[in-house]
Amino acid sequence: MTPSDVKATLSFSDGSPNIDLPIYKGSVGPDVIDIRKLYAQTGKFTYDPGFLSTASCNSSITYIDGDKGELLYRGYPIEQLATNCDFLDTCHLLLYGELPNAQKKADFDKLVTNHTMVNEQMQFFLRGFRRDAHPMAVMTGLVGGMSAFYHDSTDINNPEHREIAAIRLIAKMPTLVAMAYKYSIGQPLIYPRNDLGYTANFMHMMFATPCEKYEPNEVLVRAMDRIFILHADHEQNASTSTVRLCGSSGTNPFAAIAAGVACLWGPAHGGANEAALNMLEEIQRNGGVEKVGEFIKQVKDKNSNVKLMGFGHRVYKNYDPRAKLMRETCHEVLNALGLHDDPLFKLAMALEKIALEDEYFVARKLYPNVDFYSGIVQRAIGIPVNLFTAIFALARTVGWIAQLNEMIGDPEYKIGRPRQLFVGSNSRDVKPLAQR
Ligand code: SDX
Repeated sequence: MTPSDVKATLSFSDGSPNIDLPIYKGSVGPDVIDIRKLYAQTGKFTYDPGFLSTASCNSSITYIDGDKGELLYRGYPIEQLATNCDFLDTCHLLLYGELPNAQKKADFDKLVTNHTMVNEQMQFFLRGFRRDAHPMAVMTGLVGGMSAFYHDSTDINNPEHREIAAIRLIAKMPTLVAMAYKYSIGQPLIYPRNDLGYTANFMHMMFATPCEKYEPNEVLVRAMDRIFILHADHEQNASTSTVRLCGSSGTNPFAAIAAGVACLWGPAHGGANEAALNMLEEIQRNGGVEKVGEFIKQVKDKNSNVKLMGFGHRVYKNYDPRAKLMRETCHEVLNALGLHDDPLFKLAMALEKIALEDEYFVARKLYPNVDFYSGIVQRAIGIPVNLFTAIFALARTVGWIAQLNEMIGDPEYKIGRPRQLFVGSNSRDVKPLAQR
């Protein structure tokens, strides 16, 4: 980060001394005012719940321009990556900063493939869960449980440990998600196959059975792989910030990623794809496109507490570029499956059209986000609704790990410890019970 020639001067109306605060520039995007010495110099904190105006770190991994609706992974536009690369290329890019050449790609793909199996004991975790447990509850347990197995990669301050933990997590998440799914439907667990690519292997573990040969459908594999690419990283979103804060205590990478899984589960975050599809199905049940107007009225009524799930974003105040790509993938998958008349997809497009013309949404810059269409694609592929967020976690694991490793690799990093504005009781004495 580059010091700016411009300084920020903080002055107080009570005549307290002004203080100068340095400003730093990044390579692109908003400058930052460095307030690290603010408390020492003024005895005051800043106040920014939800961190709407706060940069928690400096990073070179992902950049979002919310006004333009732009998303770059290490400088490459998401549209180009989703078209010209596969998910493991994207993992290599996010982890090491560059797209792999042919040799590096072959080596990286082989390395990941060789780590797709999980310790055989992991399957006994599953038996502790009810079969109808939400897959995100299972995933939070399984990912955290990995720290009980891979002791040779739990020292987050050891670069070799960080590297092998990253590969293990990227490689094993598909296996764990497929295990959670098979367990929930009472089917036998399917082992990884080293002769299949990363995403084809995931589809095989999800949908194959021991009773017959299963050949993954190329169009669906490509669609799933694109879903992974689009969800791989997204700056300092809630779950990534959770992983950074958790990892800043020096805990092991598996525990830090488990914290990210838990945070992603929320409907305001990664759980929105499940919520968006449930919302579409409910509108469909209550009359479909004819009832969209009524539903939009409910959304605009503050007392209803109804939100248009899959719409709106803290950073994007324009169309989420991932939603555009997801809508394209929707068309491809539904056409490939002969479902182009899918009523839910038609309903989603009708809802999107109405919302994009409605003053309520236009005034608040509420556009479809990545979650609006991803549920329809996943449902068409055969993924159960309650597994959507686990798929999101599978894809986001590489982003979480890359961001965690970037933080730990920064010699200046410290344990995260925010302060507060205390508005509770001043000091007071405990009265004897008889006087309370
Ligand atoms: C993800 O951060 C990331 O990058 C996340 C993510 C990633 O890749 O990591 O992109 C993934 O989480 C995408 C977002 C998925 N969530 C949803 O689709 C849930 C629905 N969206 C909302 O909950 C909401 O839009 C948020 C949480 C996403 C963003 O909310 P903000 O930025 O805190 O905005 P806000 O809640 O202050 O809303 C501003 C206004 C409010 O109205 P007013 O009080 O100004 O009158 O817009 C309204 C809100 O009520 N609003 C919505 C709305 N989202 C915001 N109204 C109806 N439907 C919505 N979806």
